[in-house]
Amino acid sequence: MTRPRLLVVDDDADSCAAVAEALRAEGYEVEVAQDGRAALALAENQMVDAVISDIRMPDLDGLGLLRGLREACPEVSVILMTAFGTVEAALQAIKAGAYDYVSKPLHLEELLLTVRRALERRRLVREVQASREALRDRYQLDNIVGVSPGMIDVFKLIARVAPTRSPVLISGESGTGKEVVARALHFNGPRAAAPFVTINCAGLAEGLLESELFGHVRGAYTGAIAARRGLFEVGDGGTVFLDEIGDISPNTQAKLLRVLGEQEVKPVGGNHSVRVDVRVIAATNKDLRGEIRAGRFREDLFYRLNVVSIHLPPLRERREDIPVLAHHFLRKYAEANHKAIEGFAPEAMARLEAHPWPGNVRELENAIERAVAVGRHPIVLPEDLPSHLVSLPFSPAEPGTFGTRLPSLDELTRQHLVRVLAAADGNKTRAAEILGVDRRTLYRMLARYAMTAPDAPAEG
Ligand SMILES: Nc1ncnc2c1ncn2[C@@H]1O[C@H](COP(=O)(O)OP(=O)(O)OP(=O)(O)O)[C@@H](O)[C@H]1O
Ligand SMILES: [Mg+2]
Repeated sequence: MTRPRLLVVDDDADSCAAVAEALRAEGYEVEVAQDGRAALALAENQMVDAVISDIRMPDLDGLGLLRGLREACPEVSVILMTAFGTVEAALQAIKAGAYDYVSKPLHLEELLLTVRRALERRRLVREVQASREALRDRYQLDNIVGVSPGMIDVFKLIARVAPTRSPVLISGESGTGKEVVARALHFNGPRAAAPFVTINCAGLAEGLLESELFGHVRGAYTGAIAARRGLFEVGDGGTVFLDEIGDISPNTQAKLLRVLGEQEVKPVGGNHSVRVDVRVIAATNKDLRGEIRAGRFREDLFYRLNVVSIHLPPLRERREDIPVLAHHFLRKYAEANHKAIEGFAPEAMARLEAHPWPGNVRELENAIERAVAVGRHPIVLPEDLPSHLVSLPFSPAEPGTFGTRLPSLDELTRQHLVRVLAAADGNKTRAAEILGVDRRTLYRMLARYAMTAPDAPAEG
């Protein structure tokens, strides 16, 4: 491992040397520059991981340097040093994409902590990029984003089974990406040029579903004035995606079983079967094994569909995916709306990372879409996020949470509650223990701050 390389920029030679010395003592490689232009040239020519720069400098100042760095080497983290009176400029810098700021006179511990955090984030960003590139090369799954072990398993499975004809059963909570996975299976396989037909089994009444799936002959029932091809026929040669499979009636289940076994469909009211060649992919957010035990789902059909099973974990169980997904959606919606929003303020990202996301990826996507719609800065700020996310782990070691404003006791209390609830995974009993209050008091506080705990167990 090479040592991280830092660049310290300050027009005051003494202060520059002192900071550089302190950082070298920590084992970093340190370059120095005494003005913005020299710093920019240095950063462009030599790989640096982070820049620690004074704000007030003649010629190209800290903000100018920041802008230049965002252009020339966008991955470099920038930490600004602010003297009394330049805090406003520092806040402006954060909005323009600086990683953080530290105030002068410098506290060595604070500086070191900030540098460590900046480097850690840079390492993560690099790792994520590397694994995304590797996956894209191998699987061309541009539209499915993920770096968590759970999602990497999903990518591998897709790559392995997309070329085959095996039925696949995709399970996972609502909004976890079941449909995107179904599409990836189709579009990365030999049937990509043939139809991909989606049938929402929950949306149709019993009789209608059958005729949707298998078609009907003329006069099959009142109103059937012409024969109609079923979706299995329409999808011939391609893929039929049976969404919400857990919702089909026993009668239709039996018919579906026959189609899967014999690769033929018999239109409603007809006597002849039609041969079809379709690959079947099904999805459900129900626990089908539970449905089988309850007598609502046929076990034989389950085994037919579940030749390969792909499970999508809920987003709260793969938090590493949150930043990558957030950036993915930011690019998507910024482009669609012609807005130049390129990143997240650290505090905004912290909020995204702390939220339990009961609506999974769909909820995250909606939150980012909204942030892009309302955002008026080059980066997403906490206030651009939906209001129920406006709550953040607070720690006195993290300056900037409230900017320079001193928070009220209510604000602090609310923030602390959110933090504790997140740490307790929404478990109110545990949260109450941590807070040193009884459950009743906790409930009163939650009501007072109009908060609900994520995934809280039913009140007992
Ligand atoms: N890994 C991912 N990468 C990028 N986008 C994703 C990912 N997972 C989900 N999405 C996006 O999130 C939204 C919800 O995904 P999708 O419709 O596939 O969920 P679902 O599991 O089918 O949900 P439901 O059970 O409610 O139908 C879609 O807009 C989809 O594009
Ligand atoms: Mg779906």
